[in-house]
Amino acid sequence: MNIVNLQELSLESIHELIDEAIAFKNGKVVDYQQKKVVANLFFEPSTRTHYSFDMAAGNLGCRTQNFESNNSSVTKGETLYDTCKLFESIGCSALVIRHKDDDYYKQLEGLKIPILNAGDGKGNHPSQSLLDLMTIKEEFGYFEGLKIVIVGDVVHSRVAHSNYDVMRRLGMEVYTSGPLEYKEEGYNYVPFDDIIDTVDIVMLLRVQHERHQDDSNFSASDYHEQYGLTLKRYERMKDSAIIMHPAPVNRDVEIKDELVESEKSRIFTQMANGVFVRMAMIHKVLENE
Ligand code: CP
Repeated sequence: MNIVNLQELSLESIHELIDEAIAFKNGKVVDYQQKKVVANLFFEPSTRTHYSFDMAAGNLGCRTQNFESNNSSVTKGETLYDTCKLFESIGCSALVIRHKDDDYYKQLEGLKIPILNAGDGKGNHPSQSLLDLMTIKEEFGYFEGLKIVIVGDVVHSRVAHSNYDVMRRLGMEVYTSGPLEYKEEGYNYVPFDDIIDTVDIVMLLRVQHERHQDDSNFSASDYHEQYGLTLKRYERMKDSAIIMHPAPVNRDVEIKDELVESEKSRIFTQMANGVFVRMAMIHKVLENE
């Protein structure tokens, strides 16, 4: 089986993956005894997703191969399909893939090896959504009725796209905010200052300059004042509310530097939970091989 987006997974499967991740966090052990190999194929930069998938595979007793596209035959014209077919042919058991193209995995339908999507363009980021959900479940114990605002470059964000969909399926009240030019058509939108004091979760997004045509007018300080989590906005959050961010964080742009590790921040908890969620995902596809 593949895990390429969460739309293809039932709510039951999503709950099972989150519960399995929590079980791994609480000490559950699965050991593949070095008999399985997980290949990490990152065609786009990554710190968290790459190294936490690598850590997760190691925790499950798998070996890993870490592919460097810039130092590979991709530079000689090798296609994505042929790169993946190579890792299937040499005996890998699962592929973790990040690629700049939305829905890249549709090109790989002929492969037999399981695929775990580590992010496709601005499309999907299922492991990020699952670790976000795990963090929310640990914090609140439930999803139904929780109110979240996702603030920032929504239209270019695979995290926003994955989360908007799955969180609504789970019964959460999901809003987006930020500059109107980054709004996603059809999504609920509210000005940040109109909603900051009523939400349970403030999820901030990085401005994704790499996906913009022209950012010559962008001012980090103006963005911070208008759309960022400033100290003033932080003071307006509910006592029980939390801050989330998929990271990497641009400090003093979408969030004030000192709030990154503030009492309400769960940003580093999200990163820690990423390892357990990715263990659950790898185990799920390997046990279904
Ligand atoms: N959140 C996230 O996907 O981070 P990386 O790009 O560092 O993997």
